[in-house]
Amino acid sequence: MIENKKYFIKTQGCQMNAYDSDKISELLAHHYNMTSTEDPVSADMLILNTCSIREKAQEKVFSELGRWKKIKESKPGTIIAVGGCVASQEGKNLKQRATCVDIIFGPQTLHRLPKMIDEVILKNMKPVDVSFPLIEKFDFLPQSTSSDVSAYVSIMEGCSKYCTFCVVPYTRGEEVSRSLDEILFEVSSLARNGVREIILLGQNVNAYKGIRNKDNRSISFSELIRYISRIDGIARIRHTTSHPIDFTDDLIEEYSNSKLCSNLHLPIQSGSDLILSKMKRKHTVLEYKNMITKVRKIRPDISITSDFIIGYPGESNTCFEETLDLIEQIGFDDGYSFIYSKRPGTPASSEPDDVTIAEKKKRLSLVQNLIRENSKKYLSKLVGTNQEVLIEGMSKTDSRNLYGRTLTNKTVSFRGDRSLIGQLVNISITKANRASLEGICEI
Ligand code: SAH
Ligand code: F3S
Repeated sequence: MIENKKYFIKTQGCQMNAYDSDKISELLAHHYNMTSTEDPVSADMLILNTCSIREKAQEKVFSELGRWKKIKESKPGTIIAVGGCVASQEGKNLKQRATCVDIIFGPQTLHRLPKMIDEVILKNMKPVDVSFPLIEKFDFLPQSTSSDVSAYVSIMEGCSKYCTFCVVPYTRGEEVSRSLDEILFEVSSLARNGVREIILLGQNVNAYKGIRNKDNRSISFSELIRYISRIDGIARIRHTTSHPIDFTDDLIEEYSNSKLCSNLHLPIQSGSDLILSKMKRKHTVLEYKNMITKVRKIRPDISITSDFIIGYPGESNTCFEETLDLIEQIGFDDGYSFIYSKRPGTPASSEPDDVTIAEKKKRLSLVQNLIRENSKKYLSKLVGTNQEVLIEGMSKTDSRNLYGRTLTNKTVSFRGDRSLIGQLVNISITKANRASLEGICEI
């Protein structure tokens, strides 16, 4: 029996996976009173929540399973479960490549884990379920009990954009939204637990189209934000990630709403119209710039961050320079940049991967240096200003310090008492470090 035993969970990849892993932990605690351990050797169940967005992530899955196979050999009966995007993509084939695996589940079937665990223990089966059953997942997950200052709430799952390079629509399924009522119920109960900040989570949160139960009307993302703003106790709302084609004027207008934070992660991938059209992103660089201009009219100091893919098939030197120009012009103050990785089954995989690896690495470092410079400039401009900071907890490096985040999502550390955790306070910024700020508490 697995009741009261220990599990070890390893999470790769994006925030959606981190969120799913939290849900798995809640599920195991709820159904089997299991507790987590940091040590895989002492665990009775090992869970790998995988990522397949780039080749490197996928390679790591099989090397990890190689190590876990040895643990299982020395401790037969250990249950090994693999979830996430590699599980979704490989399905049954994963069993052939890694015979030690007992359970294979996908991002949309993790709520069925208890049933699958019972099948392993009671029936000696090796279940595989990587289907996309619409959005029943949330009906089967225990009520979130988070009482942290900031909490993620998933509002939609999957993606229907089919960018030519990306595996997400195939591994996580098409866009499906949770109902308005379900989301408001979850946010209200988190607010009652003391949560002050909600981060709305999804592959494309701004494609949100959830049903309102009372009249079956479809609610847009901007309406959802307005509903959440009315919940007592919630001081701040953030969201990630957005797609430019769904970044509509009604959403931009929502930045007049004081609870919506001043940071926007809006992936553009490339500064070249030619590459954007090859990627099927369905917008131009100019359209993107216009969106940023509009949002900056409402929030002049907003932090704009993005994702970039370097060395997409056909990316000439000129195309790449257009990306550098865009980073300069917009002044992205942070971002993620990735070398293009050919993913099996995607439309781009049939195009010649024609930028050499040496060139890709050179371009990547140019992009990263430029973003680092922008980030430095953005942070140093904040020195000498007063910022409203939501205090999240005690610093991990200095027990006399607290840390929190500005409206623009920059981390600040300062001296203060733990009784301030969960409060909004004014901090006078005294110093900018490479990726964070230091300050003095005004009260
Ligand atoms: N939903 C988000 C992004 C999801 S994937 C969006 O709207 O774009 C996160 C990031 O991984 C992407 O923005 C992209 O920059 C990167 N990425 C996706 N597929 C990739 C690939 N094949 N090679 C390199 N980077 C990739
Ligand atoms: Fe991927 Fe494009 Fe969707 S990057 S997650 S297919 S918006």
